[in-house]
Amino acid sequence: MEVQRTYVMVKPDGIQRRALGDVIGRFERRGLKLIAARLLRIPAALAQRHYSEHKERPFFGDLVEYITSGPVLAMVWEGPGAVSVARAMMGATDPQKATPGTIRGDLALDIGHNIIHGSDSPESAAREISLFFSPAELCDYPLVEEGWLS
Ligand code: RTP
Ligand code: MG
Repeated sequence: MEVQRTYVMVKPDGIQRRALGDVIGRFERRGLKLIAARLLRIPAALAQRHYSEHKERPFFGDLVEYITSGPVLAMVWEGPGAVSVARAMMGATDPQKATPGTIRGDLALDIGHNIIHGSDSPESAAREISLFFSPAELCDYPLVEEGWLS
């Protein structure tokens, strides 16, 4: 499977739930590699660009308000099939429909507070990574067990 990078973000409610360690631990245990991480309060203009695909949707205003309501943990994770692997680990957008065992299925209840974001395609990943990180902030390094995982 092709090695990919994906943009993953713990949303403000995930930080309020003190879910950072749990979420990061799941990605580490799965075998993905952390390439970049930053805690930040997203400026409104950046939130609007990040979610620009939803700008005509009725929930757009609430979505931008929610994602800017507190700090988020922005991350880049790398590994074979990382984009779809991360989406599968997150579970369905609506936590009411998310399977137990997924992040949303274990940690969330409400679609407006669904804990985590993950890029939905390699193209979205490239766009979102460049919105939140400069090339110099992406760490390229080997992990000793890499040959055993892919
Ligand atoms: P995300 O972009 O945050 O990773 O979530 P997603 O791909 O699973 O879902 P998407 O369709 O991109 O929706 C983005 C976020 O908008 C909120 N939402 N609210 N009230 C609603 O019907 C509704 N639908 C979506 C959710 O917070 C969702 O994560
Ligand atoms: Mg999305």
